[in-house]
Amino acid sequence: MFSSWKELEQAIINCKKCLLHKTRKNAVPGEGSKNAKLMFIGEAPGAVEDETGRPFVGAAGKLLTETIEKFGLKRAEVYITNVIKCRPPSNRDPREEEIESCSPYLESQILLIKPSVIVALGRFAATWLLTRMGYHCQGIMKCRGKVYRGTLLGIEVNVIPTIHPAAALYNPRLRPLFESDLKLAIEKIISKEEKTITKISKSKTRSLLDFISSSSRKDQN
Ligand code: URA
Repeated sequence: MFSSWKELEQAIINCKKCLLHKTRKNAVPGEGSKNAKLMFIGEAPGAVEDETGRPFVGAAGKLLTETIEKFGLKRAEVYITNVIKCRPPSNRDPREEEIESCSPYLESQILLIKPSVIVALGRFAATWLLTRMGYHCQGIMKCRGKVYRGTLLGIEVNVIPTIHPAAALYNPRLRPLFESDLKLAIEKIISKEEKTITKISKSKTRSLLDFISSSSRKDQN
């Protein structure tokens, strides 16, 4: 497990734990706010991500970014990464041994960020997360759009699985489902932030009232 971002990102960039290092151009650690309340986890980098070293910057990434912004957050305010950090040749599915050797990186990212909501983009991310929380994902269409609350690696999280943005891009009937799942996740974050602000401003009002009443008591003495 990694306790610093610098160490973790260097380890990912130089990783040779599985055969994908032989065919990748760049490993793709992830990007975004390291204080994010909301984290997105995809499957694996594609061609554009492999070229640039950045997650979700191709066509599927454009849909993801536009949808995040449509519901009121900026891409830079969330953290985006993948289950595996190197592109599988011809975008084939990640293999069990690749997922296993890459998992300590994702575990460290989750523990460093401690997000309150994680959106699983597609079945690989949904299975990775839900299995570790003690749930079973019987296919992405069955588990998408629901909030799975529980303990992941010792932290309390809400996991919301959804369709992979590439599927939503190529099948227009899936697009509204993808959008409503992201809306659900983003509204959860925004309402949590509003509650925190209300709590802080209530406690500020109370201390101001305490100050006024204690000064008026002093005046009377
Ligand atoms: N698809 C993914 O799962 N991840 C990316 O970063 C890009 C496409």
